[in-house]
Amino acid sequence: MSFLTRHSPQRIADLVFRDATVANIIDDYAQGLRDNHLLLYGPAGSGKSIAAQIILKTQTGDLFGSAVAQPINPRDYSFDDFNPLLNDWGFQRTHGVPRGYTVIDEVDFFSDRMREKLRALIDSTKLGTIIATTNNLHKLDEPLKDRFRKLLIERPIAADWTARAQAIFAAEGVSLSTQQVSILLNGFDGSARELIEWLEDYTLGFQKQPLSVKGPNVVASTPCGIAVSPGKTLINGRALINTQGSRR
Ligand SMILES: Nc1ncnc2c1ncn2[C@@H]1O[C@H](COP(=O)(O)OP(=O)(O)OP(=O)(O)O)[C@@H](O)[C@H]1O
Ligand SMILES: [Mg+2]
Repeated sequence: MSFLTRHSPQRIADLVFRDATVANIIDDYAQGLRDNHLLLYGPAGSGKSIAAQIILKTQTGDLFGSAVAQPINPRDYSFDDFNPLLNDWGFQRTHGVPRGYTVIDEVDFFSDRMREKLRALIDSTKLGTIIATTNNLHKLDEPLKDRFRKLLIERPIAADWTARAQAIFAAEGVSLSTQQVSILLNGFDGSARELIEWLEDYTLGFQKQPLSVKGPNVVASTPCGIAVSPGKTLINGRALINTQGSRR
């Protein structure tokens, strides 16, 4: 199993958000306290799809992942209307789910015609909730956007990631203090995918050079937060800090 898969968030508590209000709203959805249609938008790798999936999972329980409760992507949606969603919601509801849920990833990839049909579906029933994600809010027409609660998911910054990164290191057998993890993440401003890559790089680096990197003083005392012994500037074959001091 890949590092990314191994550390894919399973619960709302595993998710990291830049904004506490956004975190609370996502949590409300997972708990079923809010159920108006939700549109998560923002930059790549900010956690939109995984947040939508976790809401779907918490709401549909054992059905999650089955044909009636898995995220839809326009690129492989083979129907020419949204009637199948009504069937999914009916099936979910007969299996104890209070209301239907559908996740549509990258909703902007649906054609104009399909987006009109989505609007029509939303207006025709109150039996389900659609949770859509997009990188391209500007590509969606106003009437469609207006039918959703719109939530900007920004990328978390390094400080937001510290606790999650520490937990991932611990799961990999690398025990680091909060301060040490903060130093390692100093300057990080990438996507969640890049964050996981960094953590994998560091984990492999620690596993390959345990004597030079495991001592708390070594990690804590390195000026730019790079966890290697003097003279070693590569982890997993790649430089993590370039000459300007920013990484990769
Ligand atoms: N809090 C987190 N902890 C660990 N991994 C995370 C976290 N948030 C996101 N990820 C991981 O980062 C990857 C990207 O997240 P996700 O697919 O949700 O991003 P996205 O915002 O939908 O990106 P895109 O706009 O490119 O579709 C996923 O593999 C996800 O498991
Ligand atoms: Mg996505």
